Amino acid sequence: MAMTGVTQFAYLVASVLFIFALHWMNAPATARRGVRAGVAATAIAVVFTWAQPFIIHHWWIVGAIAAGFIVGVPLSMVPLTAVPQRTALSHAFGGAAAGLVGTAEFYLGWQEGPGHLTTFKMVALVLECILGYLTLTGSLMAAGKLQEISWIPQRPVTYPGQNIVNLILLAVAIGLAVAVIINPTAPAAPLWFAIIIGLALLFGFLLIIPIGGADMPTVIAILNAYAGLSAVAMGFALDNRLLITAGALDGSSGLILAIIMCKAMNRSFINVLFGAFGQVQKVIVGGEAKVYKSETVEGAAQVLEQANLVVIIPGYGMAVAQAQHKIRELYDQLKKRGITVKFAIHPVAGRMPGHMNVLLAEADIPYTDLVEMEEINTDMPQADVALVVGANDVVNPAARTDKTSPIYGMPIIDADKARMVFAIKRSKNPGFAGIDNELYFADRTWMLFGDAKAVIGELVKQLASGSGMH
Ligand code: TAP
Repeated sequence: MAMTGVTQFAYLVASVLFIFALHWMNAPATARRGVRAGVAATAIAVVFTWAQPFIIHHWWIVGAIAAGFIVGVPLSMVPLTAVPQRTALSHAFGGAAAGLVGTAEFYLGWQEGPGHLTTFKMVALVLECILGYLTLTGSLMAAGKLQEISWIPQRPVTYPGQNIVNLILLAVAIGLAVAVIINPTAPAAPLWFAIIIGLALLFGFLLIIPIGGADMPTVIAILNAYAGLSAVAMGFALDNRLLITAGALDGSSGLILAIIMCKAMNRSFINVLFGAFGQVQKVIVGGEAKVYKSETVEGAAQVLEQANLVVIIPGYGMAVAQAQHKIRELYDQLKKRGITVKFAIHPVAGRMPGHMNVLLAEADIPYTDLVEMEEINTDMPQADVALVVGANDVVNPAARTDKTSPIYGMPIIDADKARMVFAIKRSKNPGFAGIDNELYFADRTWMLFGDAKAVIGELVKQLASGSGMH
């Protein structure tokens, strides 16, 4: 498929735009520009590919674009809390697209006879289909677990010999792949190829069932890497450099993200993929019952307005409560009094990368007051108040001190080092890791039980009415 110079140039422009899109998405201030660059690059890629002389069935392209809109527009409207599963669905579509293109290329090549399926092309097609189809079923399972669909088990499902079964299936797929690569026009080749596809679909499903629903965001980043790699293979099969570049960017960014998430949780890849984290943990009963101290909203408001430095530590509960706009009002009230307010951002607070940043940006909280974990931890001993809003694991001191804890070694925000801690949550329930949090029983901690949005709303009311003003 010879490409004109104009198309090659357009592809180059699109590749550069994709690279800049990723770079700009690194910082909140330029993220919107990054999204626009990505959209422009995709549009250029579609239009210039469509304009190729070998594209003759234009209605197929129109139909594909319409289908893309029909699926894509509703997907873009999901609430922020559903973004992880939305992302998984996007990867499923990406994997399906790569798999279907690879399947069509193989069967057409097989019909056309020898010479059309070179060894190089066959290697690319087999990789494209295996990665594409396993991304499809793996991502659908991941989306289902995150959406908490009732018939998909949320907890890791393990059985004896699980890894052996997976390895045997993989070995069969590799064996058939080698056969079909060596002899792509054999009469039985279409059957071998179909079995490879079936095994890839099964493999995606089996890969996800031993993983706990709560580990899904990390797995989704790994599936992102697989989808990217299948696009790279598709680029080689179709001799399309733009696909190779875009797929490589997609694949490597997924991998880097997965590594960042694993590091922030102090987990290894192997641990995420096979660790069955998130099993129900037995609560150890014993010793004296631990006592929580509660504070009233009035009391907390009084303390807050006496402070010089308040560090707000948001977590998953802020997202659940959608408390970000009320937090903005609280921020305004405190700033009005000349109080320094900082937000401590843990890299895995919430349930997806950048979860807190996105929510706080939505409420127009200045980026400059969002401080990364390492940096804010040096300030924590000077903080008069640490206000924990629906965070739990990311402020759990057990990560520093308790070697038996499942989160031991995970870097945390040192809320316990502040002079005083107010913690907002609805109940005594644990967070994602299912473990108790000593911070809530500490001498300097006072609980403000309730929904984060409601409690912060009350705090704002107190401060706005001037009660406790001296
Ligand atoms: P969690 O440890 O999940 O704790 C969230 C807390 O919010 C819960 O204890 C819950 O207590 C409270 N909460 C829930 N709804 C609330 C509401 N409406 N109002 C007030 N509080 C509410 O969250 P975290 O501290 O953000 O930690 C994140 C966890 O997720 C980490 O363990 C991390 O490893 C894991 N994780 C994160 C990611 C990414 S990429 N962010 C990916 C995978 C896993 P109540 O039920 O008592 O209210």
